[in-house]
Amino acid sequence: MNGQTILVTGGAGYIGSHACVELLEAGFNVVVIDNLANSKIESLNRVRQITGQAVTFYQGDIRDKQVLTELFSKHEISTVIHFAGLKAVGESCEQPLNYYHNNVYGTLVLLEAMREANVKQLVFSSSATVYGESDSAQYSEHFPLGPINPYGRSKAMIEDILRDLSAADSITKSASPWKIALLRYFNPIGAHESGLIGEDPNGIPNNLMPYVSQVAIGKLAQLSVFGDDYPTRDGTGIRDYIHVVDLVKGHIKAIAALAGEGFRHGGCKAYNLGAGRGCSVLEIINAFEKVTDRKVPYQIAPRRAGDLAECYANPELALKELQWQAEKTLDDMVADAWRWQSKNPAGYA
Ligand code: NAD
Ligand code: UFG
Repeated sequence: MNGQTILVTGGAGYIGSHACVELLEAGFNVVVIDNLANSKIESLNRVRQITGQAVTFYQGDIRDKQVLTELFSKHEISTVIHFAGLKAVGESCEQPLNYYHNNVYGTLVLLEAMREANVKQLVFSSSATVYGESDSAQYSEHFPLGPINPYGRSKAMIEDILRDLSAADSITKSASPWKIALLRYFNPIGAHESGLIGEDPNGIPNNLMPYVSQVAIGKLAQLSVFGDDYPTRDGTGIRDYIHVVDLVKGHIKAIAALAGEGFRHGGCKAYNLGAGRGCSVLEIINAFEKVTDRKVPYQIAPRRAGDLAECYANPELALKELQWQAEKTLDDMVADAWRWQSKNPAGYA
């Protein structure tokens, strides 16, 4: 496996930069394409600082077929890990065309370039947000899909496209079938233990962990806890937080699985990447205060539209078929998020 070259789309971003570190440390060569729409090139300088190795970087857009064609002709890519896309739920409601163009059309262009280069192994960043309403708070891969916003629908559409692409192989009896892993992330948080790379959101964060970090460091005055009247153990929302380093290790396991017996005849399969247990907003605040020895001032605010009371993964399939499970604790996630935040109060700027 070592010596293979992996194309990482969106590799300068939060999860992508952590994936670059794990891939380089596992002996892969890494080529990144990123248009830096939501990231800074400094993240890749830091990747080099951590690993002592460089990635090959293309500043470009995945919707630019010419750049992709050139890239595939120059490098012998074995697998693509596809992170590039826009990810803010609220923004997707305001700019649906931008989201569908970037995420869905961008993926179509990438898939065409892959097909032309005969590169047919793909690990795709999907999301727990593709799931629909359910009686159970613990989500398994076979649960019905039903996203409720344009961002989530863009992910579900891409999943459909990828399933169709794989299904076509059995009709055409393709000799080199597509091998595709759809990884449905729950809530990635934390940072590399070096504190050199981490999440660097633009403007005021939407997500809980970066918001809490910025309150703790004094950039923001206080956290709003969106609802304390949910039917959960303390009334606040419960999510399955997963350390970003555990998450990216799941991608390396997925690459190995795509090359293995389970995908010998091709296929497209979804896997939950989550810890399999939920934490409430108040539990996150308490863990943060304990680990950092700082207060996180908060107020109870109304529920946020579109939020579920509780959502966590059934991660058994990833354990069984990818031999992957989350290993890091909530305290690890909080300590690493805080190390990144306190060493880089202005992010990569
Ligand atoms: P991120 O914004 O930090 O990284 C995405 C990267 O893609 C950025 O560097 C951005 O500049 C780049 N990009 C966007 N559009 C592009 C385009 N058209 N061409 C080239 N590059 C482009 O986000 P992230 O948190 O690292 O997320 C990575 C992937 O994981 C995304 O697809 C996201 O939807 C998915 N995901 C993230 C989460 C999460 O909570 N962070 C949860 C579930 C799924
Ligand atoms: N929350 C607060 N205050 C805040 C921010 C969040 O109380 O300022 C609460 C939310 O109500 C929720 C929990 O913290 O109960 C987590 O919220 P996040 O915004 O951090 O995460 P979500 O679960 O809402 O969504 C995230 C990503 C989605 C992705 C989903 C599943 O934003 O893109 O995880 O992967 F689809």
